[in-house]
Amino acid sequence: MAKGRRLFTLMTALVSSLCFALPTSSSSSFISSPAFFTSTTLRAEAAAAAPRSPRIGATKILATSSSPFSDSAKSHDDDVGIKCAADVLAVLGGKEAAASLNASRAHQLLSDMRFLAPLQGSSLPTQHLIQSITEIHESGSKASLKSGGMELLKQGNHNNMQRLIRSPPSAVAELAKVAVEWAGEPEAVLAKLSPTIYPVPDVEGTAADQCQLAKNTSARRFAAEEINKYMAFLFEAIHVLGPSAGFNVSLSRYDLFHGHMFTAYNTGRLGILFHSREYPEFDKTNFPINLGYCQRGSDVPYDASMNLRNILWLAPMPACNGHQCSNKWLAPGALVILDAHPGGVYYKELVPEWVDVVRTIYEGDFGQVFIDVNYFNVANAAPEARIFLC
Ligand SMILES: *[C@@H]1O[C@H](CO)[C@@H](O)[C@H](O)[C@H]1NC(C)=O
Ligand SMILES: *[C@@H]1O[C@H](CO)[C@@H](O)[C@H](O)[C@H]1NC(C)=O
Ligand SMILES: *[C@@H]1O[C@H](CO)[C@@H](O)[C@H](O)[C@H]1NC(C)=O
Repeated sequence: MAKGRRLFTLMTALVSSLCFALPTSSSSSFISSPAFFTSTTLRAEAAAAAPRSPRIGATKILATSSSPFSDSAKSHDDDVGIKCAADVLAVLGGKEAAASLNASRAHQLLSDMRFLAPLQGSSLPTQHLIQSITEIHESGSKASLKSGGMELLKQGNHNNMQRLIRSPPSAVAELAKVAVEWAGEPEAVLAKLSPTIYPVPDVEGTAADQCQLAKNTSARRFAAEEINKYMAFLFEAIHVLGPSAGFNVSLSRYDLFHGHMFTAYNTGRLGILFHSREYPEFDKTNFPINLGYCQRGSDVPYDASMNLRNILWLAPMPACNGHQCSNKWLAPGALVILDAHPGGVYYKELVPEWVDVVRTIYEGDFGQVFIDVNYFNVANAAPEARIFLC
């Protein structure tokens, strides 16, 4: 069952990336490598789907003996992944959900989480913070115009940002409720998109490199501007709060520009699994893997920080009775790095063997995945205008 689902998702990923293209000469070894796909069916499908530009979130990466992280072979079972993801959701799901895990399991999961907003002492959401997200953005964009960074954000607004993570503005809180009220039905969330189509912009020289970062050349946004602002805020929060968790992330075409939105199995809770460090630099000894056009020009080193590339956002969990959610909340919003260091619980249970070199945690383990959230660093654009959903 689970295997079939993942197979299907992989197929979908391949088919939906038909628009991608690889550099013709250098990439052939990547595609035709016998280890590229494990099943002949998949290999045939891959041949039919080529050419494409793999992203390391959706592509088998070849392990190399020269990798400093190459590890003894491990087997990954999809059901183990789904069970582990469910446990992660439980431990972040409020008191009652967390009580479904025994203490040692909860401790095991928590000790490899790096919280960007502290969990302890967190209050449940209130809905009076709409002003502060605007203030945060205004200070951020003023600073970024001048400095190319978000200096003001870095200086003094950490507490505000963390409050906003635990307790998002009302439009986002309403979306979180809709997701749960509709039992995680993706259409219920997709119904909140505006019909307007936005062409995906050419950022940071992607077009010149023949690189297409998003799944599609056109994208959508939420009808409620506040939700788009909040999506941009999440990317910025990872960038700003990451260093205090030991992780420097840039909002660039090689590092953090996308996440996968899902509704959790069983609960319908809304979430996004962000993948940073998407295109590490090709390096003969450290990372001899060709990821196609989009990798060109990368200066993202392949190093131990790859362990931290998977970042999970969960919307607050509403208290609901059947299909009716109240204004009460079972759990605050969460933004947390899942540290997938070899030997740890996430590496063992959530990173499939076929992507263990790059530590990819698969979003489909958490729930039904229905849209990608992209943040493209369009110069001088308002934060919400940097969001492209497709
Ligand atoms: C705790 O739960 C895990 C599975 O979630 C189980 O493997 C382990 O044996 C349990 N430990 C105790 C002490 O009950
Ligand atoms: C790309 O977006 C357009 C416009 O929204 C849509 O019609 C098309 O089906 C999308 N293509 C894919 C492959 O998702
Ligand atoms: C993050 O970047 C800062 C500034 O460049 C640096 O001082 C710090 O050591 C870096 N942290 C990590 C974990 O790489």
